[in-house]
Amino acid sequence: MWTNTAAPITDSGQRISGGREQAVSASCEQSRRFDGARILVGVSGGIAAYKTCTVVSRLAQARCDVTVCMTDAATRFVAPLTFQALSGRHVYSSQWEHVDAQDPQHIALARDADLVVVAPCTMDCLAKLASGRTDDVVNLLVSAIDRRKTPVLLAPSMNEIMWSQPATQRNVATLREDGFSFVGPADGWQACRAVGPGRMAEPEDILEEVFRTLDERSKVNA
Ligand SMILES: Cc1cc2nc3c(=O)[nH]c(=O)nc-3n(C[C@H](O)[C@H](O)[C@H](O)COP(=O)(O)O)c2cc1C
Repeated sequence: MWTNTAAPITDSGQRISGGREQAVSASCEQSRRFDGARILVGVSGGIAAYKTCTVVSRLAQARCDVTVCMTDAATRFVAPLTFQALSGRHVYSSQWEHVDAQDPQHIALARDADLVVVAPCTMDCLAKLASGRTDDVVNLLVSAIDRRKTPVLLAPSMNEIMWSQPATQRNVATLREDGFSFVGPADGWQACRAVGPGRMAEPEDILEEVFRTLDERSKVNA
């Protein structure tokens, strides 16, 4: 469990001006009460992976212990080195690294996590999660999460037609029934020049949901 330091808010003078940005910076400062919260961020291969860089940076600023794991496809959108620099921690992009026979990587990471967020969560990743596939490091890690203790938050991100596919909607319904939580998707501009539902939730909305869920979890475990 993280330490509840409730440190006083100090302004470092580095804040970006502007309503929403400022509010989020302030909420990150306040969220120092989540100092040491262990957060696993799963990144799958969607164009919105660049927005997850902001999520990881803000979590690090909030003094969370952030560990990033990436599917092979995700590493084509953002280099693992970017997440390593932002999180200050090793990035897992294969299930075959740091394997200890006594304590395999995915079991140790999953056991220690306070919350998991998968952002972006691709159509493929939703399908794998809904059907219990574990052939990449993100799905393998989630498969080892005891969701009675550790919430898993999914931030879907895909083209509007992919989002509207019956298979996707079935998978989302199954995952909701299985107890996964969702943030987004939002409706709006998509990298493929379409406008519609499927766009990943903004980093600010993902962070808000992460902190709200951590708060809820700390109340349940108090
Ligand atoms: C340029 C480009 C952008 C893509 N963006 C998305 C996306 O936003 N959402 C999605 O579900 N798939 C997207 N894909 C397809 C996925 O990368 C592909 O399905 C991949 O196999 C997903 O693998 P993963 O779920 O293991 O990360 C994109 C592919 C390309 C080439």
